[in-house]
Amino acid sequence: LKTESSGISRNKTVCKSLMSTRRLAQEVAAFLKKGDIVLFYGDLGAGKTFFIKELAGFFGVPKDLVVSPSFNIVRTYRAGEKNIVLHHFDLYRIRNEEEVAFFEFEDYLEENSILFIEWADRLGKITFPGRAISVAITITGERQREFTIAPWISSQ
Ligand SMILES: Nc1ncnc2c1ncn2[C@@H]1O[C@H](COP(=O)(O)OP(=O)(O)OP(=O)(O)O)[C@@H](O)[C@H]1O
Ligand SMILES: [Mg+2]
Repeated sequence: LKTESSGISRNKTVCKSLMSTRRLAQEVAAFLKKGDIVLFYGDLGAGKTFFIKELAGFFGVPKDLVVSPSFNIVRTYRAGEKNIVLHHFDLYRIRNEEEVAFFEFEDYLEENSILFIEWADRLGKITFPGRAISVAITITGERQREFTIAPWISSQ
């Protein structure tokens, strides 16, 4: 993972095993700070939730608490030691920009929080106040995934 003082540079990484994906997620987690937004792209079963479990684990959240929040759209995990609040969104069921606007993501960006957003392609035109990073996942084999990690640019 290539990082600069200002952020993350565009990276493409192939992970051929769950362990390899876990290692990549740990690297990303170590780079995250309060106020960040991580946007996930990728088909059903690509590994968005798998990756978020690992990120949450880094902050001390038990991984089995982390599941796709499909029905509630958002789940919140409080990570004790590092005094961080993780808000995990799943926009799969969102159909239009009006429904997205309903969320007012800014309201979730309190001083201690990090946002994870699955199905970020549902967002449409939007800007975020904090640093935003995109994680795009492509299924390239039964056990293999390609991750493109890049600074997120509004309405990409
Ligand atoms: N190299 C890999 N990295 C990550 N996940 C992998 C890998 N190989 C296989 N998998 C499997 O892919 C699946 C990813 O499921 P996951 O629920 O994380 O997908 P998702 O992108 O969140 O899907 P959904 O859109 O349904 O929420 C898991 O069952 C995981 O075990
Ligand atoms: Mg998921």
